[in-house]
Amino acid sequence: MSKITHTILITAYLSIILFSILFLIFYGQSFYITSISERPFHEQYELLKPSGYLGHGLGIFGTLLILLGMIIYIVRKRWKKVTELGRLKYWLEFHIFLCTIGTALVVFHTTFKFGGIISVGFWVLILVWISGVLGRFIYLQIPRTIEGREMSLQELLLLKSQNSNIITEKYGIDVSQINTSKISEMRLKHLSKSVSNNEITILKKIIRKQRVLSSRIERLEKTQQLFKAWHIIHLPFSVIMIVIMVIHVGVVLFFGYKWIF
Ligand code: HEM
Ligand code: HEM
Repeated sequence: MSKITHTILITAYLSIILFSILFLIFYGQSFYITSISERPFHEQYELLKPSGYLGHGLGIFGTLLILLGMIIYIVRKRWKKVTELGRLKYWLEFHIFLCTIGTALVVFHTTFKFGGIISVGFWVLILVWISGVLGRFIYLQIPRTIEGREMSLQELLLLKSQNSNIITEKYGIDVSQINTSKISEMRLKHLSKSVSNNEITILKKIIRKQRVLSSRIERLEKTQQLFKAWHIIHLPFSVIMIVIMVIHVGVVLFFGYKWIF
């Protein structure tokens, strides 16, 4: 996927999420801010209540999106036959998109009224979502191959020394000696006048990348441990949320709520 296609895709994800949330706020605000006891008299009650035509639909559709977001990512990550299907990074972004919009729809399904065992399920869902955001941050701190596989310490050290060698061979300087990012200072201290400003800009980028790489190598073990610990929240709590959701669906079906079916 080219950079521009990727940017368009991310913009589309964000726009869909934002548009859906703003639409639901705009459309249902008067109902959602009405007190619980007054709601049955509100003109939108039959439509927006959790068992209403729209409210119930939001619950079903939101849950399906979350399930799809989970299944797609787990299958892509673990099933060998589909590991060639696009970079893992793009599937993770799709996972985040589906789970975020799904969570937003479920929030409106609840109409901000929480009762019964499903209220526990709801807060677990929110916990999983928040943990997802934190996990995404940790995920980005671990250097990966283009396919999205975590790089080992050996691979990282090799990459770092290869980059350093390229700079030394081409410009005759030792990266570890450079502690400035200003073009003028760098030229004065380390480079001959024959190196163009354009090349210095590229060199600056490589040096910055080298520095980020060095600090990530230093923190690698800790970050990997943290990410492992993070999986203890994100995955099992997703399962807990699903178990509670299945009980909730069983209960509502038992009580005869069938939406449009
Ligand atoms: C993670 C997913 C879900 C969460 C967190 C959730 C949460 C909730 C909450 C908090 C309520 C309000 C309970 C109350 O009135 O005190 C509710 C009601 C309801 N939900 Fe869900 N829900 C989810 C998925 C679903 C699905 C998939 C369906 C449909 C199959 C569904 C159908 C209903 C119905 C019919 C009601 C109204 C029940 C009543 O008025 O007694 N929900 N849900
Ligand atoms: C709220 C609904 C969500 C559910 C139910 C959910 C569930 C899952 C599941 C089941 C996995 C697979 C875990 C594994 O392979 O061990 C996963 C992975 C992941 N999710 Fe979520 N997720 C949700 C939202 C999010 C959000 C909002 C983000 C980020 C903003 C996020 C970030 C991640 C990351 C970084 C991974 C790990 C990738 C990896 O280790 O390869 N998730 N999620």
